[in-house]
Amino acid sequence: MAIVREIRISETDRIVAGEVAEFIVKSIERQAPGPFRVALSGGATPKQLYERLISPDYAARVQWSRVEFYFGDERCVPPDHPESNFHLADQGLFRPLGIHPKQMFRIAGEDPHPDQAASHYEEVLRERFLASAPLWPRFDLILLGLGQDGHTASLFPGAPALREQARAVVNSESPRGVVHRVTFTAPLINHAHRIVITVTGKEKAPAVHAVLEDETADANQYPAKLIQPIDGQCLWYLDRAAASRLTTTTRTAESMRGL
Ligand code: 6PG
Repeated sequence: MAIVREIRISETDRIVAGEVAEFIVKSIERQAPGPFRVALSGGATPKQLYERLISPDYAARVQWSRVEFYFGDERCVPPDHPESNFHLADQGLFRPLGIHPKQMFRIAGEDPHPDQAASHYEEVLRERFLASAPLWPRFDLILLGLGQDGHTASLFPGAPALREQARAVVNSESPRGVVHRVTFTAPLINHAHRIVITVTGKEKAPAVHAVLEDETADANQYPAKLIQPIDGQCLWYLDRAAASRLTTTTRTAESMRGL
């Protein structure tokens, strides 16, 4: 029976980063030989995770040459732009670990046509995973964050992308920051073997409650509600501040299962 959802709560964001790093390293260690394919998330939260992964506690435990790095979404900016999710990973993870360019599969944020960048990236995924439609590429691990408005990847409230059931990668628009985006769709994310959603900070607590507990809130308002793996693991790593609006029931039941 696949574990559908676990919530793991730690005292601080720093501890959360260590817990997520440990889960990633263990997942790679336990995977049979062959490529381990992971999709990275964007925003600021991954910074602490990357710092842990490149530290001696973790870096030496992984045969990084086995890992292929993809992106769950990207801002439509050049790869050296400070807002680029690739740029964040390149500076914080790839260069420190000496990851070879052939292991990096970035979304072409510099493409002036985001819909073409999305279609091209989908082709790359289907080719690498040998998964032509109607099959779905199945990532070993997809890392996600959560916005204060309940978005994840670049699936924003009310966006047409929320209803996409056929395409794996589409273009979308953000109400804040860099407008034009390219994003994984919910069905692609839900076909992953492991999904890890990392959320820290008090400002995220209302969205965490809405997504995990509020049955009256819907996925159109809180797109992260769409993340329901078909047969994989979905783990929420929260610090105490982000979990502060969760009921004791959810906290106890779910986090006990996570221990
Ligand atoms: C992006 C991310 C996005 C992010 C959340 C949380 O490109 O911005 O993929 O989904 O994970 O917005 O962002 P923070 O980690 O900065 O809070």
